[in-house]
Amino acid sequence: MSATVDLTSDAIAAVDASGALADVLGLPDQLRDAMWRVESAGLEPRDTPGGLIVAGMGGSAIGGALARGILGDRASRPIVLARWYDLPSWTTPDTTVLCTSYSGNTEETLALYEAAGALGARRIVATIGGKLADAARADGVPVVPLPGGFQPRAAVAYSLVAALEVAGLCGAGERLHAEIDVAAARAERLVAEWGPDGPEDSLAKEIARGLHGTVPQVAGAGLTAPVAYRWKTQINENAKTPCFSHELPELDHNEIEGWEGAPELGRFSAVFLDDSDLHPRSRQLIELTRGLIASQASASYRIETIGDSRAERLISLVLLGDLVSIYLAVLRGVDPTPVTIIEHLKGALAGG
Ligand code: F6R
Repeated sequence: MSATVDLTSDAIAAVDASGALADVLGLPDQLRDAMWRVESAGLEPRDTPGGLIVAGMGGSAIGGALARGILGDRASRPIVLARWYDLPSWTTPDTTVLCTSYSGNTEETLALYEAAGALGARRIVATIGGKLADAARADGVPVVPLPGGFQPRAAVAYSLVAALEVAGLCGAGERLHAEIDVAAARAERLVAEWGPDGPEDSLAKEIARGLHGTVPQVAGAGLTAPVAYRWKTQINENAKTPCFSHELPELDHNEIEGWEGAPELGRFSAVFLDDSDLHPRSRQLIELTRGLIASQASASYRIETIGDSRAERLISLVLLGDLVSIYLAVLRGVDPTPVTIIEHLKGALAGG
C-alpha cells in the first residue's frame, strides 16, 4: 500500500482487524477509568523515603516513564524504572516497588516482584491477572486490577495513571487527579481532530504520510523524552518497521554525526517533539539540528505539545504518536495488533 491510501474509518477497518484504532481513540475514557480503578483498589498511602521503582517491561513499563515525565521537578523522591531481572542494589524496605505487567506473566516482572519481596520493599501490583496476580493474592500484596481485552501497549492510560497515583501515595510525587481530568478532556478534542473522521490533511495523517517508507528518528527533551520513546515503540509494534528515538541535547553529541551517511543507507526521517517549557537551549538545539540534517532527511517535523499542564501536554503527543503509528500500519497494509515475534520469543523462553 502507499501514502495515497485514504485514512478513513472504512479504509482503516479493512486492515485493523482487531480494532487497535478504537483502543487509541478511547484514551480519554481510559484515563478516567484508570483513576477510578486505582481509587477503588483502596491503596493505603505510605511514605517511603527511598522513592519509587516501576518494575515492568515494554508497554507496561512505559507508564512509569511517562509518569516521571509528567511529574518533572514536582517529583520529590527518585522515580526509576527497573526493566531487567534485578532491582537496583539500593532497594530497601523504604522503597515502593510498583510491579506492572498487563498479562501478569512476563518473566522479568515476576522476577522483579520476587526480588522486591526478598528485599522487604513495599510492593504494589498492577495487572489483569496471571501469575503476578496469583502471587500477589497469596502474599497479601495490593493489586490495581486492569481491564482485560487490550494489548499491553494499548493500556497505556492505565499504566500511566497507576504509576502517577502510586508516586503520590508513597510521597514521590503529587496526586494529579484534576490535571488528568483536564488532560482527558483535551485528548477528547484531539481525538476528534486527529482521528479517522478528522480531515485527510490533519496533523496525524500528514505526519504518517510523510514518515511512510522511511526510518523515523524521534527526538524528545525533558517532558517529551519519554514520549519520543513511546513513539518509537508504537511505530515498531504497530507499523512493524524500524524506528529509533533519542533525546536532546545528548543526541547532538553523537547521533547527529550519523546523519551524514544516512542517504547512502536508506530513507531516514526526523521528528522533534517540542514543548513550550523546554530549556531554551534545547529549543534552540531543535532548530539547529533540524537545519543541519535537512539535506539528509527524507522528511522532518517539529511538533509542539498542546495544552497547559504537563499532563495535558505530554498526553497530547502520546495520542498523536499512537495515531501516527496506527496510520503507518494502515499505509503499509499490516494489521497493527499482532506482535507475533514478541509472542514467539516469550514462548521460546517459557519452553526453557
Ligand atoms: C505488547 C507490548 C509488550 C508488552 C511486554 C510485557 O503489546 O507492548 O511490550 O508490554 O512484552 O508484557 P506485559 O505488559 O504483559 O508484562
